[in-house]
Amino acid sequence: MSFDPGSVRPQFPILSREVNGKPLVYLDSAASAQKPRAVIDAMVRTMETSYANVHRGLHTLANETTEAFEKARESVRSLINAESVDQVIFTKGATDAINLVASSFGLGLTAGDEIVLSEMEHHSNIVPWHFLRERKGVVLRFAPLRDDGSLDMEAFRALIGPKTKLVAISHMSNVLGTINPAREIVAEAHAAGVPVLLDGCQAIVHAIVDVQALDVDFYVFSGHKLYGPTGIGVLYGKADRLAALPPYQGGGEMIGTVALDVITYAEPPHRFEAGTPPIIEAIGLGAAIDWLATLDRQAVMAHEHGLYNRVKERLDGVNWLTEVGTAPGKGAIFAFNVAGAHAHDIAQILDRYGVAVRAGTHCAEPLMKRFGVTSTARASFALYNTLEEADAFAEALTRAQTFFA
Ligand SMILES: Cc1ncc(COP(=O)(O)O)c(C=O)c1O
Repeated sequence: MSFDPGSVRPQFPILSREVNGKPLVYLDSAASAQKPRAVIDAMVRTMETSYANVHRGLHTLANETTEAFEKARESVRSLINAESVDQVIFTKGATDAINLVASSFGLGLTAGDEIVLSEMEHHSNIVPWHFLRERKGVVLRFAPLRDDGSLDMEAFRALIGPKTKLVAISHMSNVLGTINPAREIVAEAHAAGVPVLLDGCQAIVHAIVDVQALDVDFYVFSGHKLYGPTGIGVLYGKADRLAALPPYQGGGEMIGTVALDVITYAEPPHRFEAGTPPIIEAIGLGAAIDWLATLDRQAVMAHEHGLYNRVKERLDGVNWLTEVGTAPGKGAIFAFNVAGAHAHDIAQILDRYGVAVRAGTHCAEPLMKRFGVTSTARASFALYNTLEEADAFAEALTRAQTFFA
């Protein structure tokens, strides 16, 4: 079955706008995706009809909002096939979720303990671990990449040793589009008794994620790349892993009891949700997930691949373009450089044609260094993009290139 983006485009109000007198061609969804009416409406409806704080009140509005908030947790559970809603922690985003694990799990680490990362990580999955290097003397080891942007699994395996305490690696790269062999990574690490955190920011959008099948210990993602709002993300953890983690932030909701001289903590997930949570945002994320569940996700993924393939076909054989990241089975992200042009200039010229792409280091400076570039431009595809938009991008890029030829 094929997926027709025309069936969803009218549900994304922003897609009908123009940019610089041209129809918007939004190819920056890996940075943040646009929002369907279902998400916008769910958030507005909550604020207009049943808004109150959650878990605290005994009145009708508080109960209704609490129910909607917890329903969103169930939507996340179902999306990732977690065993229980208690394993789904709402955070501000993926960055917040990784900082939570680094901070809480990191409390148990000592100088010389090792964490294995990879060269393709987003800064969100590097900097929190650097904090542990600076503050505790933890050693960071980076698994290298092959020239096509795939993870060198042999080298990864060799990095895991008796001092390794955690592997933290992206499921799918936000620059290269590489989809890492997550099941194999987890199995390798577990064979050495090492837990694994997967950064699923991109994979949650472009792959079917089943945390039980992956057997992963921690899985994180942000809501805003999954057609949901900003300010909301998820940390999934295995029950025993979460039970062993000390709290991250202190405040309301995360306690058992508080006295002047002693304190006890709530069970997960509430132990890790101090203070008033992002209520409207969680409800918006739940709406995004419920909306996605009405679509044939396999067909959506095939469609996204089709967009990437179309761009590749249209630009096939040109001698002024270098793609960064060509690993087999990669997802629908196209990072590239144009000979003689800075990526920022390319993005600005494309904007004149209404085409929105990202340019820069993509919060992945070690990856830029690995590929010997200071930046790249990046077109990233979402379910609402059309083949005509892929063509418009290829045409605009070809024209942009003539400025530098
Ligand atoms: C692979 C990956 N990890 C982490 C992040 C950080 O996500 P956020 O800024 O929503 O916390 C991103 C965002 O671009 C990403 O693509």
